[in-house]
Amino acid sequence: MRTSALLLFAFSGSCFAQTAILQSPNGNIKITISDELTTPSYSIDFKNKPVINSSALGFKFKQQAPFSEGFKITHTQKYTQNTQWQQPWGERQIVTDNHNEVAVTFKKPQGGVFTVKFRAFNNGVGFRYELPKQPGFENIEITKELTEFAITDSQSATAWWIPARGWNRYEYVYNTTPVNDAPLVHTPFTFKNKEGVHVSIHEAALVDYAGMTLNQRRPGVFQADLTPWSDGIAVKKQGAFNTPWRTIQIGSKAVDLINSDIILNLNEPNKLGDVSWVKPGKYVGIWWGMHINTQTWGSGEKHGATTQTTKYYMDFAAEYGFDGVLVEGWNIGWDGDWFFNGDVFSFTQPYDDFDIEELTRYGKQKRVQLIGHHETSGNVTNYRNQMEDAFALYEKSNVSQVKTGYVADGGNIKRIDENGVARHEWHDGQFMVNEYLYNVKLAAKHKISINTHEPIKDTGLRRTYPNWIAREGARGQEFNAWGTPPNPPEHIPMLAFTRMLAGPMDFTPGIFDMGFNGLGDDTNRPQTTLAKQLALYVVLYSPIQMAADLPKNYLAKPDAFQFIQDVPTDWQQSIALDGEVGDFIVFARKERKRDKYSGNDWYLGAVTDEKARTIEVKLDFLEKGKKFEAHIYQDGKNAEWKNNPYDLNIEKRMVTANDKLTLTLATSGGTAIRFKAL
Ligand code: NOJ
Ligand code: CA
Repeated sequence: MRTSALLLFAFSGSCFAQTAILQSPNGNIKITISDELTTPSYSIDFKNKPVINSSALGFKFKQQAPFSEGFKITHTQKYTQNTQWQQPWGERQIVTDNHNEVAVTFKKPQGGVFTVKFRAFNNGVGFRYELPKQPGFENIEITKELTEFAITDSQSATAWWIPARGWNRYEYVYNTTPVNDAPLVHTPFTFKNKEGVHVSIHEAALVDYAGMTLNQRRPGVFQADLTPWSDGIAVKKQGAFNTPWRTIQIGSKAVDLINSDIILNLNEPNKLGDVSWVKPGKYVGIWWGMHINTQTWGSGEKHGATTQTTKYYMDFAAEYGFDGVLVEGWNIGWDGDWFFNGDVFSFTQPYDDFDIEELTRYGKQKRVQLIGHHETSGNVTNYRNQMEDAFALYEKSNVSQVKTGYVADGGNIKRIDENGVARHEWHDGQFMVNEYLYNVKLAAKHKISINTHEPIKDTGLRRTYPNWIAREGARGQEFNAWGTPPNPPEHIPMLAFTRMLAGPMDFTPGIFDMGFNGLGDDTNRPQTTLAKQLALYVVLYSPIQMAADLPKNYLAKPDAFQFIQDVPTDWQQSIALDGEVGDFIVFARKERKRDKYSGNDWYLGAVTDEKARTIEVKLDFLEKGKKFEAHIYQDGKNAEWKNNPYDLNIEKRMVTANDKLTLTLATSGGTAIRFKAL
């Protein structure tokens, strides 16, 4: 429903300022958009208290005059939406999109016009700039986006963040500091004020634009800092365009940030049509061995990707219900120091000891798919030149999922430009934003899904391109093999309220042998209990989940392995029940129906940081009047991550929605439960 909105007029100093006001459907969120002092700005209140103070809007351009001072509101248009849509796969099948919208047009008498479209949801705000066609704006080079986020009472607010524009991309340990101490940071940028209101700033639908990082310019005032091209320009555009949505999720509790679909709702619907070929599932792979140095990507005695080893993994996958086998190091180019070898990767030529045709045949016979791998070492031109052939080969080989990799230091993606000159780009600049999406779209033509490592951050594009099935974009399990330091015990409850707000992560859970160097080596091992590794399958959402350890380590602990065999990766519903950022998190999820046997069970995952804790969970998410057999996997009495990670209790118990469970989590421990419907 479209209605034209009344503008509010307020007298301010020497001139009349105009103000547009937008409220969320439940009235909890109020956005005020203003042109006071002829500078476009907005502010946000949550439950009648400010959370974002007056914050600037606008742009600076290389050629044109800035869109900042001198602009007045000339028009507003309101719109209301309350609809539902379906996800082909996801944390929940049905998503509700209930928001109010106002489009506010700013004009400058001397020339220049733009609209900012605001959407107020019950649990947050999205806004984007829309630049219409206008004289002098045929070629646009944005040098700065002037968008600010001025955090109310920032001196008493706590933030959780990773630095932006560093060599390690998004792969940093999270920091907890006063908001005022956060430097240039990545989004999702999560913080809470002293009243306990939780906020997370991120973006949605990042397409053909630079990734937004946040730069604290004055205490509490963060300015959008767009990751530039190698020539220093932030964004290059021609004619009319819309920016990605800037998102501000707001909730009274930490878990409100998670139980929110704002990012997805601000993305365009599916553009790929029938995507029944995009399949959630579980996989194993020739992978961890390379990370713990028992195998190599490159050729030679310890080469992991051999026909024989792949067949062994296919047998294992078939026997224990996995859909695919990832094989890394199958293609020529890994010899030498592959980190610096991006120029020589072939994406179509296997090593001699990897018979792709035979493995295609064997996989079909076993009903297990080969999962493809394209590591580029950041040389995107070399990859681009072979991409079509590479996908064609995989399509022919019955491969429907490819993991890509862009291992290169931040700012060191190598592209060869139109003049044959090598340029070095950031992973989150406009050039790479486009490159990643090009890859996903081309893959779709071959009915291939993409799992990007060293990606651009997720902004919900899986709604529009459902074959963008997962990505990395934070420190994954691999850091527990060789990271200095490895992921600390608080890493998972930190990810849940930061990185995971963006979308699915291919973390690769399920390491069962924590002591591959001996348990005493606590820098090169997961700093978790075994129960916590199981809980990750429920806590860290991804439609594809790896069982990352070596098969022999699963065979050595068959009882615990049962949970990985049972847990699904596609959900009817997901609820973050309880948690605090960086401390703990508890999720309940109901499996999605795949056939007449599935779709009735619930699962629970809980993890804690370095503190042991007891958590009471009401089972009122279960359907009333139904009985469930709870298969509970929890830390044993003597479990603690350092010296006794394997102490695991497995028990079965009948429960109903009226019951409560008391979970006892060891230091860096967890609980995983299957509620089997009877
Ligand atoms: C980094 C990825 O995150 C990891 O999973 C992969 O094994 C290596 N790159 C090699 O491609
Ligand atoms: Ca990585």
